[in-house]
Amino acid sequence: MQTDFLDSNQLDQASKYLKNGEVVAFPTETVYGLGADATNEKAVKKIFQAKGRPSDNPLIIHISSVEQLEQYVQSVPDIAKTVISHFWPGPCTLILNKKGPIATSVTGGLDTIAVRMPDHPIALKLIEKSGVPLAAPSANTSGKPSPTDASHVKKDLDGKIRAILDGGRTGIGLESTVLDLTDPHKPTILRPGGVTFEELEDILGTVFESNPTLKDSSAPKSPGMKYKHYSPVKPVWILPTQLDLAKAIVNQLESDGETIGLLTSDDWLDELKTDQRKCYSLGKKDTPQQAAARLFYSLRKLDDEKVSMIMVEPYKKKGIGAAYMNRLEKAATRIL
Ligand code: TXA
Ligand code: MG
Repeated sequence: MQTDFLDSNQLDQASKYLKNGEVVAFPTETVYGLGADATNEKAVKKIFQAKGRPSDNPLIIHISSVEQLEQYVQSVPDIAKTVISHFWPGPCTLILNKKGPIATSVTGGLDTIAVRMPDHPIALKLIEKSGVPLAAPSANTSGKPSPTDASHVKKDLDGKIRAILDGGRTGIGLESTVLDLTDPHKPTILRPGGVTFEELEDILGTVFESNPTLKDSSAPKSPGMKYKHYSPVKPVWILPTQLDLAKAIVNQLESDGETIGLLTSDDWLDELKTDQRKCYSLGKKDTPQQAAARLFYSLRKLDDEKVSMIMVEPYKKKGIGAAYMNRLEKAATRIL
């Protein structure tokens, strides 16, 4: 199949493809999504095929208005209305009890459904023009870092999908927060993301997390292989939190013959930069949103560089730093 590379003026063409049951990648404020008509079983199956995604991992449906939500969930509890009024459109996906004509493979047979309204003009127009909710996972090959640029989608999925709508680089750079509201008394974060734990706690009072280690500032000792995800081809190691120790380890690895790609804050780069190291910046240490925005982008860049391994600085698991560390720990082959 030939993949069309469309500019943002070619929304009509993209929506035609979607109405015809084809799969189209499009930009959102978080990462690029791989969209298909969520009411069309055959179309949704094409998403799983193109990505090589296991069929038991359910998809998020993307809508362009709050009214649309009522067609696909049994009820909208007050707590959902509160979250929506603060964070929609935006990077907050809600899990609610499903209803309506959604293809079975979107939810993998679950009674619940994940819904979000993206905060991106191209995504919103595309959903409106298509006239259907769009089921869309991140537009990467399963297991790879999520795409934050149209060129990443092309690299992973060219020839496997009908079109890519190019909207430039995405702003947030990692995925939405997934918030389970099926028990309205127990709002639970299933995946940290663009809306932070603290922001949700501010408006909801108490918020739960499905992963109890999320706010634990000490890194787990070893990430099990089963958590490997978002991974470049090259090994990714998370550096220790002390700069001196990090420096010693990088020096040692180089004398053992490794070629190191570094991804750290500017503060650390000043200390670690040398001519032989490939260095990418995560921005200032006190702006974790920059680190979040650059993580997947830079992992892909470093994977294409002539380096034998990639070493990344850890950030505090606070605010968006929690989402940054969640993705980094899943990408990592080793945590120092
Ligand atoms: O920012 C994002 O959320 C991006 C953009 C494209 O919108 N999408 C995205 O989709 O990250 P994906 O498929 O890569 O991640 C969807 C997450 C998965 O962790 C999935 O397990 C969870 O949402 N999910 C989907 N439906 C669910 C459900 N009914 N119950 C629990 N978790 C669900
Ligand atoms: Mg994904």
